[in-house]
Amino acid sequence: MRSTTLLLPLYTAAFAAAISYPKDAQAVLQQPQLTIVEPDEYLIELSPGETRWVTEDDKWELRRQNINFFDITHNEELGTLNRKLTGSSVKFPSKPAHNESIAPLLKQLKKDNMRRHLETFTSFHTRYYKSHYGVESSAWLLSQVDKTLADSGAVNASVKAFPHPWGQASIIATIPGKSNKTVVIGAHQDSINLFFPALLAAPGADDDGSGTVTILEALRVLLKSEEILKGDHDNTIEFHWYSAEEGGLLGSQAIFQSYEKEGRDVKAMLQQDMTGYVQKTLDAGEPESVGVITDFVDPGLTEFIKQVITVYCGIPYVLTKCGYACSDHASATKAGYPSAFVIESDFKYSDNKIHTTEDKIEYLSFDHMLQHARMTLALAYELAFAEFK
Ligand SMILES: *[C@@H]1O[C@H](CO)[C@@H](O)[C@H](O)[C@H]1NC(C)=O
Ligand SMILES: *[C@@H]1O[C@H](CO)[C@@H](O)[C@H](O)[C@H]1NC(C)=O
Ligand SMILES: *[C@@H]1O[C@H](CO)[C@@H](O)[C@H](O)[C@H]1NC(C)=O
Repeated sequence: MRSTTLLLPLYTAAFAAAISYPKDAQAVLQQPQLTIVEPDEYLIELSPGETRWVTEDDKWELRRQNINFFDITHNEELGTLNRKLTGSSVKFPSKPAHNESIAPLLKQLKKDNMRRHLETFTSFHTRYYKSHYGVESSAWLLSQVDKTLADSGAVNASVKAFPHPWGQASIIATIPGKSNKTVVIGAHQDSINLFFPALLAAPGADDDGSGTVTILEALRVLLKSEEILKGDHDNTIEFHWYSAEEGGLLGSQAIFQSYEKEGRDVKAMLQQDMTGYVQKTLDAGEPESVGVITDFVDPGLTEFIKQVITVYCGIPYVLTKCGYACSDHASATKAGYPSAFVIESDFKYSDNKIHTTEDKIEYLSFDHMLQHARMTLALAYELAFAEFK
């Protein structure tokens, strides 16, 4: 495998000076020049054990054909240590048990916050993980999470950048509970224009700006709970914003590989990738619903999420499938952690403007995102207090 060196453009301090970033973000922005070694070919996994060497152009061609994969060039170890330890042996509650605490929280979720965040997030030319714009959008998101935690007064909550060699960092916010048993809520922060990733605009409003702002709003309101603020919950809650999902689940693989190595005890992971588009569902004369993914997920966690939707959302769910490695929950599964995925609709009615210059806010429904935020908040609260034996 020959190697070439890719120099990411020098990032000037002008942009950084205009906005006040937390320390972590400053450090990311001040890296003078990122030098990463890019292989000529990448090893991808298209289904369990089915691998192939491809060029980067081949990767984008496969994605244009809606074929998903793990890029395992640097992640071949993922899943080799932990697979037998947890997985489907985790028992989830038989039904939701915290309506009295959660109902008053649900009322505090605000569409305006999601819209405001999404307007800025989509104003970056692209959030392509190898571009300097992707570094900037990540730093901005980190500053928003940092502000959310600071405003909440949660003394032990924290956020950090999880750096990657390609430039754009993932982001991890932690609300420590009484134990290290951990529940992860995830979305991916990067966007891509699959025609010319390095050049063309990729607003990525739905994919996955929508999931990004949905879970950020759920985090804000979760911290309105007195019990959570006092750290009275049993389990640790983390919110993750992954880098480089579009490159083959790169950020989430790096994070879950590190968790697996550290022996982290992740009990559940919920991914939301696209939470805002409903038009094709409505055009087909079908009721607005959230799409619960049933393939390559943990059946017990998925069953509990269906109950959470029934109790806490104003719309029903439909069961649907998205194939192997279709979003970052697949990395958690591979590491041996129970994972689930909920998307905006039946997969066949999901947004087909993604990965283009047309993935814009104007096509999205913030009422629908609010339903995903209700589910996220309720699930995070329920599992924060769940007794995992
Ligand atoms: C949850 O609590 C709210 C507010 O107290 C109440 O209106 C609602 O009926 C309850 N839902 C369930 C499923 O118990
Ligand atoms: C959680 O993990 C940290 C780091 O390994 C450790 O210091 C701490 O004691 C653990 N906390 C509990 C409650 O097990
Ligand atoms: C914060 O963490 C400290 C040290 O673990 C602990 O003593 C304290 O109770 C925690 N406070 C809250 C509000 O969680």
